[in-house]
Amino acid sequence: MNKVAEELSGWSLEDAAGREIDEIFNIISGKTGRRCRGIFEKILKAGCIVELTSRTVLISKEGSKRTIADSGTTVYGKDGAIIGVVIVFRDITEKILMEEELVKARKLESLGILAGGIAHDFNNILMAVLGNISLARREVRVGTGLYAKLFEAEKAIIRAKELTQQLLTFSKGGTPIKSTASVKEIITDSADFALRGSNVSCNYDMAEGLWPIEADEGQISQVISNLVINADQAMPEGGVIRIAATNISIEPSCIDGAIAEGKYIKISISDSGVGMPQEHLQRIFDPYFTTKKSGSGLGLAIVYSIVKKHDGFVTVESEHGKGTTFHIYLPASQREIKAADKAAEIIAQDTGKVLVMDDEEAVRSVVGRILEYLGWEVGYAEDGSQAIKAYEAALNSDSAFDVVIMDLTIPGGMGGKEAAEQLKALDPKAKIIVSSGYSNDPVLAEYEQCGFSGVINKPYRIEEMIDVLYRVAHSDSSETEAIRFPNE
Ligand SMILES: Nc1ncnc2c1ncn2[C@@H]1O[C@H](COP(=O)(O)OP(=O)(O)OP(=O)(O)O)[C@@H](O)[C@H]1O
Ligand SMILES: [Mg+2]
Repeated sequence: MNKVAEELSGWSLEDAAGREIDEIFNIISGKTGRRCRGIFEKILKAGCIVELTSRTVLISKEGSKRTIADSGTTVYGKDGAIIGVVIVFRDITEKILMEEELVKARKLESLGILAGGIAHDFNNILMAVLGNISLARREVRVGTGLYAKLFEAEKAIIRAKELTQQLLTFSKGGTPIKSTASVKEIITDSADFALRGSNVSCNYDMAEGLWPIEADEGQISQVISNLVINADQAMPEGGVIRIAATNISIEPSCIDGAIAEGKYIKISISDSGVGMPQEHLQRIFDPYFTTKKSGSGLGLAIVYSIVKKHDGFVTVESEHGKGTTFHIYLPASQREIKAADKAAEIIAQDTGKVLVMDDEEAVRSVVGRILEYLGWEVGYAEDGSQAIKAYEAALNSDSAFDVVIMDLTIPGGMGGKEAAEQLKALDPKAKIIVSSGYSNDPVLAEYEQCGFSGVINKPYRIEEMIDVLYRVAHSDSSETEAIRFPNE
């Protein structure tokens, strides 16, 4: 036995000498867990190099297990007679782990492709549902029971959209599409939704005058909902989750390298559940780390990646058996929340001409009806080339389109990106809004570089449509008359 053999087997040459080989070289099959005995005899019988099955596990003297690759052969003396057997083995535990990581990465990649396809189709369907409910809600008086029900239905559809988003974010890394937002509403909406039907309730403690954040609302809502679901699961007997939000300033003196100084919103989510032992705390943000029977172990990995992409950070305190608190720090925004974001019930009274391009009939018609409801004259196109033709024809007549709303991905046809390039070449002043059900496309995060003046993710509510139209119209106010809200 050389040094490495001593190390891997846990036996020193001195202790091993004179013992049975099966005792020292104690191997089992990695697949079946059964002991492999008589390896010397097998090698002797074969008379050539013998390789053992790929996943042999060596159990050391102390009982630790390592996956090894091994082979053996007979050793001949000068006179050609067999004088022994040599076994060569090395530790491939790390290599196997790396291979497993690779398999996981590939799985995530295919999950991403699948999720992308589902998100696209699913969000188009949801657009038809949400658009119609949004329109129906507009026909009902505010404050009535029917209004409230339709409003709840809208919220639920937005959650359904976020479910696909959740998959996408993790599998593809999803660049956040940020806007100035208030955390208060995101927190209460996501937490209440996550706790539906649960015996756990939520207790809020939101400071007055919380600063706004620059955030992807869908992603931040995922963060809250993943943390609330974990807290809920940590209290199977029921209980109360406390969620607090406050403004804090991180001074240079508190910085330990990882955190930038500045103003943050701190969100704390506490439960009085099972808590975690110290050794788990290091690993909870790792993908696939789970202690639950049916957990995927992705919840906190997603939280971590989203918060990081928002230039924030997460910390956790937990006491085994007592409870857990997660703290999320998100940088405060210097900007103010736009009036249109807050005004959920306003109706824009604007007239103009808009071209809607989408390959799905159900989407085209509901978006068209929303726009007509808002007072626009609507034209339609099924793909990029139709849109360009229609736009050009209108441009040459005396009623050009003021705004174009384009779907980003058109299976088998010219999509929004290419069409926007061509439209801009045709008319540099063209105002184009990109709309997509596949919100992880990088084009959406950098829509301005791609020639778009605005972005809207399917499915969306009427208010979001008003908002984006408002912004686009104001993006260049010398050219377009501002959209005015009647109650402003
Ligand atoms: N509030 C909490 N209280 C106690 N343990 C927690 C809490 N939050 C997370 N954990 C521990 O961290 C592990 C990882 O959490 P994570 O959300 O990433 O995955 P999961 O909840 O197990 O599965 P998934 O969220 O994908 O369904 C959990 O399995 C649990 O052991
Ligand atoms: Mg979880």
